[in-house]
Amino acid sequence: MQTIKILWSEDKGFNEEELDRAASIIREGGLVAFPTETVYGLGGNGLLADASKKIYEAKGRPSDNPLILHISDMAMLSSIVTDIPESAKVLAENFWPGPLTMVFNKKDIVPGTTTGGLDTVAVRMPVHKGALEFIARAGVPIAAPSANTSGRPSPTRAEHVAEDLDGKIDMIIDGGYVGIGYESTIVDVTSNVPTILRTGFITKAMLEKVVGSVAIDPGISGGSVRPKAPGMKYKHYAPKADMIVYRGEISNVVRAINRDVEKMATTKNPDLIGILATEETRGMYPVGQVLSVGSRSEGTAGRDLYDVLRRFDEIGVKIIYSENFDEMEKSEAIMNRLLKAAGQRWIDV
Ligand code: TXA
Ligand code: MG
Repeated sequence: MQTIKILWSEDKGFNEEELDRAASIIREGGLVAFPTETVYGLGGNGLLADASKKIYEAKGRPSDNPLILHISDMAMLSSIVTDIPESAKVLAENFWPGPLTMVFNKKDIVPGTTTGGLDTVAVRMPVHKGALEFIARAGVPIAAPSANTSGRPSPTRAEHVAEDLDGKIDMIIDGGYVGIGYESTIVDVTSNVPTILRTGFITKAMLEKVVGSVAIDPGISGGSVRPKAPGMKYKHYAPKADMIVYRGEISNVVRAINRDVEKMATTKNPDLIGILATEETRGMYPVGQVLSVGSRSEGTAGRDLYDVLRRFDEIGVKIIYSENFDEMEKSEAIMNRLLKAAGQRWIDV
């Protein structure tokens, strides 16, 4: 299969003909990868069982791992869920369109293949202008997981999508870099107390400010409790190298990483040692391959996390020493992704 590439940009938007073509590919059951504000999604018609099957195949994803349906307006929501609880109305008013996914009871029109056999369906209205326009033009809810091969870091640039899926899908909409760089917050609104199933840019504190008490699914951090979002049980975002996170005050972290890198460099080629750093600290490591995931002070440290993990894979480093982001504002989602990539390996310094 030849994968067609089209462009979307903030100032130019879409070429109308190309947008029509993308929308008809979706309606007819094909696959189109598209940018959102979180990560790139691999889109298919959410109401066609065959389109969902193709998504699972292209990603190599287990079919018990349900997909998120992306909508462009509230009428689309009403067409796929049986009821909209009060808490969901409040959350939608405050955070939609945006990086929040909510889990509802589904109507029969949504096929079980899309929801991994569950009676519930996850729904998100993205705020990315290109994504919204694309969904509205398609006129159907678009089922979209992150547009990566299962088990690889989620794509934050169209090049990442092409690396994993070129030749396996019909089209890629290239919208450049995404803004946030990690996946949406997922909240189950079918229970009495809204429950966070996956952390993201919208934090627990932000949710509680508008709906009161919010619970966190105990299975979320990858311990022995079974998570309620089926996808959270899989080992995600795993780089090929071993990875270890250093936790503690940043000056101690830099010192400890340098000490361990120097020790390692006596037996290993220093070019095969990776250091995951930030703009503020990248110049503090004399030995090893240093990559920055963004700025601590500007709060952009999450945007390039997945890109950096992919680049370490390309370089072929054997071990990655990583700084932590515990002290940063909105760090819970980034630390969740980072510790997953590290297989929960960290040391306190
Ligand atoms: O930011 C995002 O959410 C991105 C972009 C493309 O929108 N999408 C994304 O999709 O991260 P994916 O497939 O990589 O992750 C979907 C997560 C999985 O952990 C899945 O188990 C959970 O959502 N999920 C989907 N439907 C669910 C349901 N009915 N109940 C509980 N969890 C559900
Ligand atoms: Mg994913």
